[in-house]
Amino acid sequence: MASSDRPIIITIDGPAGTGKSSVARQLAARLGLDFLDTGAMYRAAAAIAIDRGLDLSDHQPLVQAVADADLHFDWSTDPPALLAWNQSIDARLRDADVTAIVSPVASIASLRRLMVQEQRLIAAEHPRLVTEGRDQGSVVFPDAPVKFYLDASPEVRAVRRVQQLRQAGQAPDAELVLADIVARDASDSARADGPLVCPSDAIRVDTSTIPFDRVVDELERLVREKIGVDG
Ligand code: DC
Repeated sequence: MASSDRPIIITIDGPAGTGKSSVARQLAARLGLDFLDTGAMYRAAAAIAIDRGLDLSDHQPLVQAVADADLHFDWSTDPPALLAWNQSIDARLRDADVTAIVSPVASIASLRRLMVQEQRLIAAEHPRLVTEGRDQGSVVFPDAPVKFYLDASPEVRAVRRVQQLRQAGQAPDAELVLADIVARDASDSARADGPLVCPSDAIRVDTSTIPFDRVVDELERLVREKIGVDG
C-alpha cells in the first residue's frame, strides 16, 4: 500500500477550551487527513432532544430519535457539515440551550454506544483521520498510533471562552464562565462511560501558555517523527 493510502488515526482528547477543535482541524489540513469533530455529534443529539421536546431522563426515545436522524457528515465542505435527517444542523450546535444540556446528554451510556459505533464506521470510510473529543484515544480508537491529550488550566480556558463570547456580541460573567468550566470538567470526568481521561499512551500537551500555531507545529512535528506522513 502506498504510504499516502495507509490508514492513520490520530486522536486528540481533552477538556473544552484547550483549542482542540481548531488544532485538530489545522493538523488534519497540514497532514492531508480528514477531520472529525465528535463533540458536534453529541451537540446534535442535545439539539435533537430539545427540538423534539424529549425528556432527557427517558433514554430510549432519545437514542431512537438520534438513530433515526442518521447523523452523518457532508465531507464536501470544510469543515464537514453535520447532517440530521439530511439537513445541516450546524447552526444549532453552539446555541446556549444546546451547550447547557450537552454534558448530561453525553453521559447517557446507550447514546455513547451509538456514537462510538458511528465514529468507528466513519473511520472505516475515512481511515486517514484526525479525530477529536473526550474518549477518542481511550475508548473509540484505543489502537490509534498517535494520541494527544490537550490540556490547559481552567482559568486560561475561562479567559478564552469569555473572549469568544465577547466576539460573538455577548457580555459574559467571567466568574460564571469559570464555574461552568469547572462543573463541566467534573461531569465529563466523573461519568461511568467514556469519561474524560488522558490515555496512558497519549502525549500530553499543555496549551496554557503556547500560542495556537506553535501547538499545531509541535503536534505536526511529533506525528511526522512518530509515524511519518506524506502530504
Ligand atoms: O467538544 P465540545 O465542547 O463540542 O463537546 C460537547 C460535549 O460533548 C461536552 O460536554 C463533552 C461531550 N463529548 C463527549 O462526551 N465525548 C466526545 N467524544 C466528544 C464530546
